[in-house]
Amino acid sequence: MSISAIKPGWWQQPLHKDEKIWIWVAFTWCILITLIMPWWHIYGDQNPSQEYYKITTEAFDQLTDKFIEKYKVGEDEGLPVVEPPPNSDIFLRGEQWQWTPVLKLKAGSTYRLHLSSIDTLHGLSIYPIVMNFEAVPGYDYVLTMTPGKPGVYNIICNEFCGLGHHAMSGKIIVE
Ligand code: CUA
Repeated sequence: MSISAIKPGWWQQPLHKDEKIWIWVAFTWCILITLIMPWWHIYGDQNPSQEYYKITTEAFDQLTDKFIEKYKVGEDEGLPVVEPPPNSDIFLRGEQWQWTPVLKLKAGSTYRLHLSSIDTLHGLSIYPIVMNFEAVPGYDYVLTMTPGKPGVYNIICNEFCGLGHHAMSGKIIVE
């Protein structure tokens, strides 16, 4: 049908039955997927934490240094490897362009991971399980986590943070 074949005033015609059906299908689908969002927030089991505190970048930097000093067990490619006791508070610092320290955790133990950045916004991405969180300067983001499967989980940055962004990586070792 060419454009010229469309009669003027077509939009004033009543809806065809097929059109009505599709409008209701689309409308119902919109309502359904909108309701799934709050439902998942309450009943889903992989929701991000709602726990965060304001903290200066200097204070977070010092807390991470103290944490490393206390539980350091070695080094991995120039980064400190830290083995904290189960059920403790652990720290992960994002900065241009590395994640410090390398965390050595026990499977089945619960930790309170404090995540932040001391310069700009970084994105913590844990592979291969693909969990993503943001490291925001000025905020201590607390993620209560219980690593399940032993293995080496590489972490990368998924938020563009400057020249070395592509090389910003780190590691979580679960035993
Ligand atoms: Cu840090 Cu990109």
